[in-house]
Amino acid sequence: MTQTTEHSHIVFEAEETEDIGFVESLCWRMLAEAARDRRSPMHTVVIGTGDGARAQLRTVIIRRVDEAEKRVYFHTDYRSGKVSEIRTSRQLAWLAYDASRRSQIRLTGPTLLHHKDELCQLHWASTKHSSRRCYLLPEGPGQPLGQPTDAIEERLSTFSYSMEESEAGFQHFAVVETSATELEWYYTHSRGNRRARFRYEAGQLVQSEWLTP
Ligand SMILES: Cc1cc2nc3c(=O)[nH]c(=O)nc-3n(C[C@H](O)[C@H](O)[C@H](O)COP(=O)(O)O)c2cc1C
Repeated sequence: MTQTTEHSHIVFEAEETEDIGFVESLCWRMLAEAARDRRSPMHTVVIGTGDGARAQLRTVIIRRVDEAEKRVYFHTDYRSGKVSEIRTSRQLAWLAYDASRRSQIRLTGPTLLHHKDELCQLHWASTKHSSRRCYLLPEGPGQPLGQPTDAIEERLSTFSYSMEESEAGFQHFAVVETSATELEWYYTHSRGNRRARFRYEAGQLVQSEWLTP
């Protein structure tokens, strides 16, 4: 397996490696890069919730990765449906895929909702003016509008507010934090697929194993 960080791109050939420790660190470096680099294919991930009766999937942007504590974060509106689902399940599944690296990462773990706390303030401070727009809409996400789509878009694009006025959106801003308890890597290759599973307890790696693909 070769690996470089040139131009912040992680390049590797994983079909021959037997170094499971390297694979584990590679997964976290890919996720960390995805949070930093909006051009990364893993910058958008899919999160899955389940309430026992049905599953829900949504695309979100991975905003922060704490490699030391094995935690991943995204931003959302506190009024959204996913928040009430997470409030009930307290668990989340994350799915990231990078075709150029032939890698899928599946991650699951207990999930915390941050709202109006210190962590939210930190994330909010680095949230750009344009990204604050959706938190300013009074009705919140997923409400019937009774208007055609173009009217919604017109309203969003003509929405004007100063950075100071955008502070009102903070009350609706939430940061979702998942602490990984399990991470699975799946690598596809014509010479044979690879699969490895990692388990964590309190942010510490406690088990690494290769699996049949
Ligand atoms: C490329 C892309 C990125 C998205 N990023 C986010 C995000 O970071 N946070 C978020 O709450 N929703 C994001 N969404 C929208 C969600 O997928 C979802 O449709 C929306 O949040 C409504 O979810 P709800 O059912 O909880 O209201 C994104 C959608 C797309 C297509």
